[in-house]
Amino acid sequence: MQTLTPEVTIIGAGAAGLMCAFSAALRGRKVLLLDHANKAGKKILMSGGGRCNFTNLYTEPANFLSTNPHFCKSALARYTQWDFIELVSRHGVPYHEKKLGQLFCDNKSSDILAMLLDECAQAGVDLRLDTTVETIEKTEAGYALQTGIGAVHCQSLVIATGGLSIPTLGATGFGYQIARQFGHGVLPTRAGLVPFTITEPTLKAMCSELSGTSVEDCLVSCNGQSFRENILFTHRGLSGPAILQISSYWQPGDVVHIDLLPHLDLGEWLTTQQQERPNGELRTLLGEVFTRKLAGLLCEHWFASKPLKQYTAPELEAIATQLGDWQLVPAGTEGYRTAEVTLGGVDTREVSSKTMESQKSPGLYFIGEVLDVSGHLGGFNFQWAWASGFAAAQYV
Ligand code: FDA
Repeated sequence: MQTLTPEVTIIGAGAAGLMCAFSAALRGRKVLLLDHANKAGKKILMSGGGRCNFTNLYTEPANFLSTNPHFCKSALARYTQWDFIELVSRHGVPYHEKKLGQLFCDNKSSDILAMLLDECAQAGVDLRLDTTVETIEKTEAGYALQTGIGAVHCQSLVIATGGLSIPTLGATGFGYQIARQFGHGVLPTRAGLVPFTITEPTLKAMCSELSGTSVEDCLVSCNGQSFRENILFTHRGLSGPAILQISSYWQPGDVVHIDLLPHLDLGEWLTTQQQERPNGELRTLLGEVFTRKLAGLLCEHWFASKPLKQYTAPELEAIATQLGDWQLVPAGTEGYRTAEVTLGGVDTREVSSKTMESQKSPGLYFIGEVLDVSGHLGGFNFQWAWASGFAAAQYV
């Protein structure tokens, strides 16, 4: 096997690696893009329920979690959602805004992957799949890699291996291992944008019975953060956008507060209903704002249903509190098996926010989810992959 001598080697042909590869190749750099998987961009294909929520119109640094919150600003400002939308439009990929600025493909996620692969092919990127990387060493001229396709010598090495979520899609901790090898700190990782599990028997039974039911407009809060979106009951606990969002702020043992009817002043509403329809049953009333099944189960497990006139003022107040501030301590999360992102990762305080280059080992770059930058749900994680990939591409 002959030694390959690209100028730039990128490990990981996911969202960030693909963007970095063609952007660097367009600058005239000779780029080798390696991935151990048999297909590039598997997460892109899986994303957005098969329609890839590829960016968000309202992307702001505030949509990202990191120990170093300023780190993402520079890259996000230099490659914005508008730049990616321009690329998508240039390729004639049809898309639409679903809600809250979230842009999805009209057809399939494969439109986005095909676009990125087309850009790579046009720019002359050498993409090698099914290729493992065995060792990496620093040399005087850059980096020497031993790979499944032989030795590779390059000036710049980009780590774009992503996080730990969904191992069946090729996720590994390889990026963290390389970071440590070159003296970088790796902040503790945990699953983010992930459903909660519940083990408390009564609540678990209730969730399981309601599995597939959603409550459209809830305000979910934890550790000073709140998200107003729907929640979904599952066989094992709770999911839905508001739950996924808050999961990124939750630590084991923390209480999650759920307002099931944030658009109502519950105390006032219940009192008015009691005055206006004293003989109406609580179950019937709740059936008007929730599904009948949910109303029935709430009455079964939380409040005995009786005619409204029979509730005392403190009882009504207790119902208002339970519906408006349901306090829940999840047993845990579904973990990396279903998480959309990995929180934590390569410590950004040792990486240049402008170039993504390591401050420990010149010529080494980290981009995408392997870094300690995680976005909210809604297209922000891809926007980070595009922006950080583009930033590194200008300097590799
Ligand atoms: P990514 O994980 O995309 O790519 C890493 C690549 O490195 C993979 O191709 C992997 O095979 C390769 N690799 C790993 N280890 C390696 C090794 N040792 N050697 C060689 N190659 C290696 N975000 C969003 O904005 N909108 C959305 O709609 C969704 N939807 C979504 C759905 C699901 C099910 C998941 C799991 C995630 C999402 N996300 C999302 C998150 C988004 O997919 C994620 O943040 C980006 O793909 C991260 O891009 P990266 O390029 O950093 O990693």
